[in-house]
Amino acid sequence: MPADRILELRPTAVNRILSEVRKLQAQGVELVSLLRGEPDFRTPPHIVQAAKQALDQGRTSYPDNRGEKKLREAVAWKLERDNGLRYDPATEILITSGATFGLWAALAAILNPGDEVLLPEPIYDAYYSPIALAGGCVRSVAGRIVNGRFSIEVEHLQRACSPRTRALVLNTPWNPTGTVLTSQELAALGEFVCKNGLMLISDEIYEALLYGQARHVSPAALSPQLRRHTIVVNSLSKTYAMTGWRAGYCAAERQWIDAMFLVLQQASRGPATFVQDAAVAALTGPQDCVAEMRAEYARRREIVQKALEAVNGVRLLVPEGGFFALVDIGGLGLPSELVQRRLMQEFGVVVVPGSFYGPAGEGTLRVSFAAGGTVLEEGLQRLTKGLIRMYGERA
Ligand SMILES: Cc1ncc(COP(=O)(O)O)c(C=O)c1O
Repeated sequence: MPADRILELRPTAVNRILSEVRKLQAQGVELVSLLRGEPDFRTPPHIVQAAKQALDQGRTSYPDNRGEKKLREAVAWKLERDNGLRYDPATEILITSGATFGLWAALAAILNPGDEVLLPEPIYDAYYSPIALAGGCVRSVAGRIVNGRFSIEVEHLQRACSPRTRALVLNTPWNPTGTVLTSQELAALGEFVCKNGLMLISDEIYEALLYGQARHVSPAALSPQLRRHTIVVNSLSKTYAMTGWRAGYCAAERQWIDAMFLVLQQASRGPATFVQDAAVAALTGPQDCVAEMRAEYARRREIVQKALEAVNGVRLLVPEGGFFALVDIGGLGLPSELVQRRLMQEFGVVVVPGSFYGPAGEGTLRVSFAAGGTVLEEGLQRLTKGLIRMYGERA
């Protein structure tokens, strides 16, 4: 029998749905997927070239487990350039295998058994299990749709906060809601964090994907006090279409990075050395590839908007950032999991039910526009057809 702690873990929403997708596909059902946060772009050539060159130079031995010096310096430079943050590359930056490992190391470094973590919902579902694995408990705080976007109320956080609460996890731009928290909102949340002596784990993995007037603000940049209370978690996965490279990084005050470094040494020991060289090329090289991808996602977002605004009974929460659109399907009067299943089985399109991101996500569907072209077109056709049918079936 596997250990008891395994009972606390759950497969990620995407993996849960993928196992059903594979079953249906094995039966010959043809599906279009608007499921994953997986960019359909290839990694820009200059980054691939840097990895090839590193391999040719024999950069295949163990990396510096803290992260190669050049990459830590590149991250420090990037944080100053893009986020107005200053961290010492020698002591305040850790290179991780994706944001996934960074999140785990941060939680493992912060939590004692029974400590609580505040999670504003609906939220990226893969935060739940590492909190459990680190011995912590989730305190969910329901977000609310105000003026067509999900927001977090400090009052609700305060009510959920107990003497056992140690941390708040924020993700801005926020998966799955598409909200980009403003500096005003972040200042209020930051004040709450500092006042209650919490740590803020700030997952900024979608920072480069912004639309319209939205601007990314890194909370640690708001005040020296909040910087002391923040662990920045980020990765190259989404910004540079590098999901498979597993290149991420964290920044925080030394005591946290030292603790997280200890965690890292027991597990991954960091991304491959040649991957780290490629990450240097990504962060310090030309950034037009990022702007080009952002422009394409903006175009896709408009396609999603056009397709869904024509459908009665549903409302699109127009994303301010990221590449997910949350569709409010409250008008259908059906549970989101049922709608998702019917969309998949009867209409051949795969999305995620909002309930997989916590109860506050009930009544919504998450639609990914990380893939474009015919996948997006065909997927949206199937989605709208299914939603129109279900709206028409109301008693
Ligand atoms: C909010 C959020 N954080 C972290 C991750 C994982 O990122 P990485 O590929 O860097 O491990 C994802 C991936 O979808 C995500 O949506």
